[in-house]
Amino acid sequence: MCGIMGYVGPREAAPVLLDGLRRLEYRGYDSAGIAVANGAISVRKAEGKIDRLGALLEAAPLAGTAGIGHTRWATHGEPNDVNAHPHSDPSGEFVVVHNGIIENFSRLRDELGAEGHDFASDTDSEILAHLVSRHYDGDLVAAVRLAVARAEGAYALVVMTSHEPGRIVAVRRISPLVVGLGDGETFLASDIPAVLHHTRDFLVVEDGELVVVTADGAVIETIEGEAVERDVLRVEWDAERAEKGGYDHFMLKEIYEQPAVVTETVAGRLDAEGSVWLEDVRFDDAFAAELDRIWVAACGTAYHAGLVGREIFQRILRIPTSVEYAHEMRYGDPIITGSSLTVAISQSGETADTLAAARLAAGRGSRLLALTNVVGSTLSREAADVLYTRAGPEVSVASTKAYLAMLVGQYLLALRIGRARHAVDAELAKRIGHGLHVLPGQVESVLGNEAQVAAAAESLVDADDIYFIGRGLDYAVAMEGSLKLKEISYLHSEAMPAGELKHGTLALVTRGTPVVVVITQGAVYDKTLSAVQEVKARGGRVIAVAYEDDDEILRHADTVLGIPRADDLLGPVCAVVPLQLLAYHVAKLRGHDIDQPRNLAKSVTVE
Ligand code: AGP
Repeated sequence: MCGIMGYVGPREAAPVLLDGLRRLEYRGYDSAGIAVANGAISVRKAEGKIDRLGALLEAAPLAGTAGIGHTRWATHGEPNDVNAHPHSDPSGEFVVVHNGIIENFSRLRDELGAEGHDFASDTDSEILAHLVSRHYDGDLVAAVRLAVARAEGAYALVVMTSHEPGRIVAVRRISPLVVGLGDGETFLASDIPAVLHHTRDFLVVEDGELVVVTADGAVIETIEGEAVERDVLRVEWDAERAEKGGYDHFMLKEIYEQPAVVTETVAGRLDAEGSVWLEDVRFDDAFAAELDRIWVAACGTAYHAGLVGREIFQRILRIPTSVEYAHEMRYGDPIITGSSLTVAISQSGETADTLAAARLAAGRGSRLLALTNVVGSTLSREAADVLYTRAGPEVSVASTKAYLAMLVGQYLLALRIGRARHAVDAELAKRIGHGLHVLPGQVESVLGNEAQVAAAAESLVDADDIYFIGRGLDYAVAMEGSLKLKEISYLHSEAMPAGELKHGTLALVTRGTPVVVVITQGAVYDKTLSAVQEVKARGGRVIAVAYEDDDEILRHADTVLGIPRADDLLGPVCAVVPLQLLAYHVAKLRGHDIDQPRNLAKSVTVE
């Protein structure tokens, strides 16, 4: 996800910006650039690592004490020098950096094009520089307001003009933005760690706000122009904690990033009617219509995301779908015939087994689609179609936000295929579309119940074995919940379909045995409840993840972790969040190295 920097003060801006961009590197990027005002505005930008930008600046330094900077993670337009930020209007008097996606970009581009605007890049962001300059009438704040009134989507936008030296204007809609208050100097950044070595005093710019930054400080108002009082946030974190955004562990930080990850993954791809536009999914409607089989190949958490995918593809599209462990598929001689699509799911896009299975499927004539989080990864380069999950870099070995983004990606893919083959009518598309649009708020509300999950974790710390059960989509989520717990708590846990319990594992359930049940699916609710009763009858202890308005489960479970009611098709997305938090808190209580669990690697690039 892109990173943003801004500086106004007595120092040379270029080195301050460059240093800040380096500290934002962890967000992932494919190009970087800065603009500095010194009378006129000059820009330096380059594809690739920040060192390339550094070399450019060494060869052609920029003098000036106000500037903006950016690291770009490509969404519209390939990573190259021209598409790198900052972007200017044709006069070069207005520059912008932008993090986010302008959803109505094509429409705005056509409109400006008809007025004679020429564009240098393929990005959505360049439009914003043109819009600001078009509306400028001696007041940058007014021009920015008018420009963003036309833009739909998510953004943190920072704007500078040569007409108003020593002043930067920024707005935030969804994408993060903070102001660092120094002594006679002021900073802007995507997050606190980028400038924490300069100051510990911050103003957090909230959604829907505009900020005017000068060397003397910052004034925040709403985008509509109402005054805002914002307390200064004094940040006392040490450097290590700062890197984790103030959280104790990357895993927790990443769990909390999930509402934003859903928003990012959906942004610009889904409208209110449930129509989907997936930029790098290139197959045509005829291919989608003829498709007679879907293969999903993945490992670990990505495989569990695939289990959800299978349910969605089969239920929504009625296309037979097989989910294969990639390491099994590569040696399993799969019978790939007809018109098939292989969805290879991999956060890293570098997992050796997944690559091998993907190559095998493609070699046997299946069309390969990569569902991955890493732009330019091997898997994305080899696939005919790519669906990027936009979760941002995931540091914790135990995957959380990448998993959630994989689920969202598969709903989008199902809509894309379903509309083309008329398996998804307007009403269903709207239902799923609505579900995805409200999802960030729902995940946010589950995160608000962390204390309750932490309390439930206390009852699991000394357990010998923990079982996870569910049916259908709930079973898929139970699999992931169990893996999370195993990975970081080192407790033995096992997941199975709820109906399978009585065929063997029930023999292990005795007084106090913890059983976690995921119970959201209305069609099989009573069946899952029967399994809960089988557990209770043997003295087992039931922790249920259920809709918060489900009164029935309160009569059976020992602990209920509530999630907001959702369409059953989308239920699993929220249901996984309490399970992630449960694993986290059990591991924390047991004193483990949460971000780097023993014996495990983030990316398994060997067989
Ligand atoms: C998940 O918590 C694990 N780190 C692991 O199961 C992982 O999902 C698996 O190794 C696949 O990785 P990938 O998504 O990068 O291919």
